[in-house]
Amino acid sequence: MTSALFQPISLRELHLQNRIMVSPMCQYSATDGDASDWHLIHLGQLALGGVGLLCIEATAVEAIGRITPGCLGLYSDDNESAFRRLLTALRRHADTPLAIQLAHAGRKASSHTPWDGGKLIAAQAGGWEPIAPSALPFSPSEPPPREMNATDLVRVREAFVHAAQRAAHLGIDAIELHAAHGYLLHTFLSPLSNRRSDAYGGSLENRMRFPLEVYSAVREVWPEAKPLGVRISASDWIEGGWDLPQSIEFAQRLKAAGCDWIDASSGGLAPEQKITPGPGFQVPFAEAIRKAAGIPTIAVGLITAPQQAEDIVAAGRADMVALARGMLYEPHWVWRAAAELGAQVRAPKQYWRAPPRGAEAIFRDAKVGQR
Ligand SMILES: Cc1cc2nc3c(=O)[nH]c(=O)nc-3n(C[C@H](O)[C@H](O)[C@H](O)COP(=O)(O)O)c2cc1C
Repeated sequence: MTSALFQPISLRELHLQNRIMVSPMCQYSATDGDASDWHLIHLGQLALGGVGLLCIEATAVEAIGRITPGCLGLYSDDNESAFRRLLTALRRHADTPLAIQLAHAGRKASSHTPWDGGKLIAAQAGGWEPIAPSALPFSPSEPPPREMNATDLVRVREAFVHAAQRAAHLGIDAIELHAAHGYLLHTFLSPLSNRRSDAYGGSLENRMRFPLEVYSAVREVWPEAKPLGVRISASDWIEGGWDLPQSIEFAQRLKAAGCDWIDASSGGLAPEQKITPGPGFQVPFAEAIRKAAGIPTIAVGLITAPQQAEDIVAAGRADMVALARGMLYEPHWVWRAAAELGAQVRAPKQYWRAPPRGAEAIFRDAKVGQR
């Protein structure tokens, strides 16, 4: 049996052993943006699980671009040093390629962590003033963010560039720009959150302008051999909002700018969204974008079973799949998938004795001797 999910794939000069990505997942466990021991334990466990690509959580490009005070950052020398310690330890024991999701929270910044309720932290309670394309709050009950002026646009674009340069210094293998889930770049795209009257608002062309400028500016400094993808929300799930046809147009423009993948998520822009999640409910977005824009796509969202993931890739609906909650629940999901699909993965030699009867062949190059 040859599994499509376990076929290697190359993104520029980055070679992945299979088509499974750990989806980026905020851990809210940083201090002033600095990665902590938690990140080493969390990413360490996931890096041993045999995935093709491990994407580090949304990482803010400036301090006010953090969703919560606990979000990771890559905007200061201290942030870079904390990342270096983390990556040095990870690299010593795992060769799993690492991507980082670079992000700016926009109007969803200055939030409490989910386990503290997730609501906006008011300025007088230690929060900060979020910025956005327009002074429109996420929810009508909240104070509006500050509308970005020309200086903000330049500063934020440059912040993405500087974070990408730091990622390059750190030897990170790939970047995913976060243009989904109602964060800054998504709010430029959606007509519901972008009401600007300058060159960055109004027509689709204008709404795409800032995200495309950020993409191109990052691409310019990011090493040619390394891939740069984008996560989008392919639909706001709100009448009159951002939708699949606009996503396809955006994907075509990104492709022309050199984009290596579209990671097709959805939603997160505003509370009025009407979503009915179900198994693989976002796969049709990855499929439609792949077909219409001719760009590699990653399907994500309630992909939980190995055969389900296999079918998505085998049918050409997406080039890769990403799993988030399923990987937290079962960090060795890929091993089970390899057993079920008759495939092989690389595993750390310390774990070579793990496979149960019937799954003995899942570890490539494994050999166990004893006296
Ligand atoms: C704990 C947690 C943190 C998340 N953080 C991020 C993030 O940093 N960036 C992002 O794009 N999506 C984030 N997501 C969304 C996931 O990447 C994924 O798209 C979503 O959970 C659907 O996939 P799943 O059904 O496999 O969990 C997060 C999800 C979870 C559960």
